[in-house]
Amino acid sequence: GAAVQFAGQTAQISSAAPNARQEATVVFGSQTGNSQKLAKKLSGKLQERGLAVTLSSMSDFKPNTLKKVQQLFVVVSTHGEGDPPDNAISFYEFLHSKRAPQLDGMPFSVLALGDTSYEFFCKTGQDFDKRLEELGGRRLAPRVDCDVDFEDSAEQWIASVLAALAEQQGTAAPTGASIDSAAQGSIQSATESVSEYSRSNPFQATVLENLNLNGRGADKETRHVELSLEGSGLKYEPGDSLGIYPENHPRLVDELIAALGLQPEEPVTLPKNGEVRSLREALSYYYEITVLTKPLIEQAAKLFPSTSLQELAAAEHAQQLREYIKGRDLLDLVQDYSLKDVSAQSFVSLLRRMPPRLYSISSSPSAYPEEVHLTVRKVEYESYGRQRYGVCSTQLSERLEPGQTLPVFVQDNPNFKLPANPDTPIIMIGPGTGVAPFRAFLGEREETGAPGKTWLFYGDQHFSSDFLYQIEWQRWLKDGMLTRMDVAFSRDTEQKVYVQHRMLEKSKELYQWLQEGAAVYVCGDEKRMAHDVQETLLAIVRQEGGLSEEEAADYLARMQQEKRYQRDVY
Ligand code: 2AM
Repeated sequence: GAAVQFAGQTAQISSAAPNARQEATVVFGSQTGNSQKLAKKLSGKLQERGLAVTLSSMSDFKPNTLKKVQQLFVVVSTHGEGDPPDNAISFYEFLHSKRAPQLDGMPFSVLALGDTSYEFFCKTGQDFDKRLEELGGRRLAPRVDCDVDFEDSAEQWIASVLAALAEQQGTAAPTGASIDSAAQGSIQSATESVSEYSRSNPFQATVLENLNLNGRGADKETRHVELSLEGSGLKYEPGDSLGIYPENHPRLVDELIAALGLQPEEPVTLPKNGEVRSLREALSYYYEITVLTKPLIEQAAKLFPSTSLQELAAAEHAQQLREYIKGRDLLDLVQDYSLKDVSAQSFVSLLRRMPPRLYSISSSPSAYPEEVHLTVRKVEYESYGRQRYGVCSTQLSERLEPGQTLPVFVQDNPNFKLPANPDTPIIMIGPGTGVAPFRAFLGEREETGAPGKTWLFYGDQHFSSDFLYQIEWQRWLKDGMLTRMDVAFSRDTEQKVYVQHRMLEKSKELYQWLQEGAAVYVCGDEKRMAHDVQETLLAIVRQEGGLSEEEAADYLARMQQEKRYQRDVY
C-alpha cells in the first residue's frame, strides 16, 4: 500500500499495480491563490477515491506531457479585462497555439473563477473549456463559472466531477493513494495554517495600532494598521495577503433602507445558515451594496416588473447596461428606478454576499510574531453627484479604533514569495501602497540574516508627505540590509518621474543584477504602473543584452518560469 502524501514535493509512491490505477491531472492558474486552494481540494477528493493525482500550477505543467494525461481538471481565474493570471499565461498560449496536441476524447472539466461585475466574466475559464473541446477533449462535467462568492458553486462543481467519474468508472474502491506533485511545494505550503480560522470562519483580530502614514498637505491618506493574531494559530509568509470582511458605510446603509421605504429593524434570514438578522445589520455586514452586476440587474428586473428596469435588462441594451453599472451602486439603482414596495427579504435576495478584501501584508512574521500589519490607502471619490467610499479602506481610516476587532483570514499567495535561496538578489518595484510586501520581505531577510543583495524602487507623489515608511528604509540602507534604493516623486518636479524612469537610468546595473540571477518583484497598480514597468524591463533587457524584441520576451518569460519575475498587482 502507499502512504498518503500531501505535502511539499512528493514522490510517486505506489507499490502495487500502478497501471491499474486511474490517473488525474489537476492544474490551476491563480492570481490570489483561490484557484490553487480549490484545485487542492479537488485533488484531495480524487485521491480519496483512489486516483493517482498530479496537482500542479499551470506554469509548472510541462505542455509536452499533455498527450499522456488521462484526464484533466482545470481551475482558473480571470484577471483584469478577461486575461489569464500570470501563472496561466504560458499554458494558455500553448493550448491556443498550433503546437497543442489532439486530445482524442480525453475527459476534462473546467472550474472558472471570476467576478460578474466585470464584462469578461470568467473568460479565461471559458476559453480553456472551449479550446479543450476543440482539441478533441470530452467534457466530463459541465464548466462552472463562479462569482466572487465562489464557495458554493465550487463545491457543486467538485461534486459533479466526482459524480461523473463515479459513473464513468463504477466507483473505484478507495486505495491508499498518492499525490504526485509537479508543483514546487504547492500542494501544501509550509505555512498553511493548522488554524481553525479561514475564509469561511474568520478570526476576530484586535486592532493594536491605526496610524495615518501621510504627512501634512498630502492629497492621500494611507493607514498603517497593526492587528493581533494572538491565539488564532494563523501563520503567514512574506508576500501573503490578509483577507478582511469589512462593514459597509453606515450612511449608505441608512440611505438605502430609507430609499426602499423599509425599516432598519425588519428581520431577514441569511441564506447561508438561516440565521436571522435585522435588515440594517444584514446590509452592513453580509451583503455587497456598492457594486452592480449584470445578473443583479436582470434579477431586479424580474422582481420589479412594472419599472423601466425591463428595458435596461433587455438583451439588446447590453452596452447601455454595461455603462450604467459602472461606478454606480445599489442606492443609485433604487433611486434611479424608484424601486419600492418590496419586502426586505426579497430585496436582499438580489445581493451578492460581501466579498472579503485582500491586502498584501506589510509585516514580516519573524519580525512581528503574532501580528500582521497592513498598508491601506483610503479610496474616496465623487461620481454621479455623490461622494463614494472604498468599503474597507474607509472603514479602516474612519471607523476602526485600537481595541476594536476585525474579521480576518490569511490568504496564501503562492505567486509572490521570497526566493528559496537567501543569497539570491532581489529587485523590488513598489510605488505607493505597492511597497507593502517589500517591508515584509526586508524585515524577513533581516530577521533571518539573508545575505542576498536587495534593491528597492519606490515612488509616490511628494517626498515630504508621501514617503511611506521612510525611516525604516533609511535605517535598512544604512545598515546594509537594503543595498540600493531609488525613488521617484512624481509631483515634486516639472516633469513627472516614475519608478520605471529610475529603472531605465540604472539599466546597466539592473541588467547586471538580472544576469546574476536576481528575482524581480512588482507590486501595485496593474493597468498603468505594472504594465509600464514590464515594458521597461523588456527595453532594458533588449538594450543591455543586445536582444531582439522576441528574445527579450523569451528572457522575461523564462524569468517568470523560474519564479524570478513575480507580480502582485491590482
Ligand atoms: P502620479 O499620481 O503623479 O501620476 C503612486 O501612486 C505613484 O505611482 C504616484 O507617484 C503616481 O504618480 C505613480 N504613477 C502613476 N502612473 C504611473 C505609471 N504608469 N507608472 C509608474 N508610476 C505611476
